[in-house]
Amino acid sequence: MRHSIFYLLFGLIFLTVTVLVFAHEKTGWIAPEEAKKMKNPVKATKTSIQKGKEIYEKMCALCHGAKGDGKGPAGAGLNPKPTNFMESHGEKMTDGEHFWKITTGRGPMPSYEKQLSAEERWHVINYINTFTKHK
Ligand code: HEC
Repeated sequence: MRHSIFYLLFGLIFLTVTVLVFAHEKTGWIAPEEAKKMKNPVKATKTSIQKGKEIYEKMCALCHGAKGDGKGPAGAGLNPKPTNFMESHGEKMTDGEHFWKITTGRGPMPSYEKQLSAEERWHVINYINTFTKHK
């Protein structure tokens, strides 16, 4: 009986260490399949992009940079670094994935589920898309 408890504890410690090591590694942040397929219900009109810009400059530029280069003043010390939206980012990730990530958050990237309405999140995505050439 004693032994099994010992093994159980050992197993738990081993598991914790493994999880911590993996969590610390710079693993890619992957949105679930359903999120990839989610369509942006808000058209990227001038008004939407303007609304997105206002939100971005207030809430996101601090980390992601006013130009979307990921070099905002508060982003310098972060690990992982805030995403650079100027790199061919929009080509690799769908609006749905952006939406899921902005909603969920990870590590230093906050979750905006409560602070921004769904519509506001789509506006921001329409604005972020102006940083990269979209195909
Ligand atoms: C406190 C700093 C900080 C703020 C503020 C912030 N972000 Fe982030 N963001 C990050 C970091 C760091 C990452 C990278 C997280 C990772 O890879 O685990 C990230 C990642 C992202 C990603 C995912 C990119 C990818 O390729 O995986 C999106 C989209 C994003 N941020 C959008 C936003 C939007 C929109 C706002 C404002 C509403 C915002 N962020 C505000 C730090 C921030």
